[in-house]
Amino acid sequence: MNNNPTLETILNHRSIRKFKDKRLTTDQIHTIVKAAQQASTSSHVMAYTIIGVTDESIKADLASISGQPYVKDNGHLLIFCGDLNRIKQQATLQEQVDMQETLESTEQFIVAAIDASLAAQNAALAAESMGIGICFIGSIRNNIRRVNDILDLPDHVVPFFGLALGYPEQQPEKKPRLPIDVVYHENHYQGTDQQRELIKDFDKSLATYYENRSKNSRTDTWTEQMIRKYSNAVRMDVSPYIKEKKFNRR
Ligand SMILES: Cc1cc2nc3c(=O)[nH]c(=O)nc-3n(C[C@H](O)[C@H](O)[C@H](O)COP(=O)(O)O)c2cc1C
Repeated sequence: MNNNPTLETILNHRSIRKFKDKRLTTDQIHTIVKAAQQASTSSHVMAYTIIGVTDESIKADLASISGQPYVKDNGHLLIFCGDLNRIKQQATLQEQVDMQETLESTEQFIVAAIDASLAAQNAALAAESMGIGICFIGSIRNNIRRVNDILDLPDHVVPFFGLALGYPEQQPEKKPRLPIDVVYHENHYQGTDQQRELIKDFDKSLATYYENRSKNSRTDTWTEQMIRKYSNAVRMDVSPYIKEKKFNRR
């Protein structure tokens, strides 16, 4: 099945959280960003901006917001932002264009989130195909307003997540995924009863993975982890922030 280099790269993915002290070259960064740009994009809107962080003090600030050292100790850091500001700016070239309602709609917020995510996954795969490790960084949203200010983001631009890149200094085990029949349904949504038995088996195999992995071994299952995660209200300031930035208002 995994007999071509693209599939091999995709199926070999694991997040890397310790990088060698070696910067990516400008050529490598441009290749990765061009790969990101080649992702499909809703109606060719390209509703994202990618900010490469080279200033060490900005990296240190972002690392302290995320609480994760690999946000600063890496070969390069990209921040993926949803961006409808550029469309708004282009509209000022014509008189009497009123796009406020559409720019502020949930639909266009989804467009920006999807466009940025597809671009980021292309960047991740491009990097991995070049032997560069990656870790997505959602924890910049621990203080999304501060990230907004650090990066000078205008209205209609919001930071979604970071992507830390660099030469791997670790080789973690691959993390198991849910069984295919849990996530792939044909024709209709399959009820939770069908999923539950499969998830029970998955919990056992994930528990084995957590117990046996070489770093951060622990006793846990997927179900326990998800119940813990969704029982805690976190980052509740994100919603009002997004609306203040004129996204997802209507
Ligand atoms: C949008 C997004 C945000 C993430 N944020 C973080 C993060 O802040 N810190 C981190 O260590 N990993 C983060 N991850 C990595 C996930 O924890 C990881 O992909 C998941 O546990 C599966 O492990 P794997 O990538 O090694 O297969 C993030 C992943 C995604 C897709």
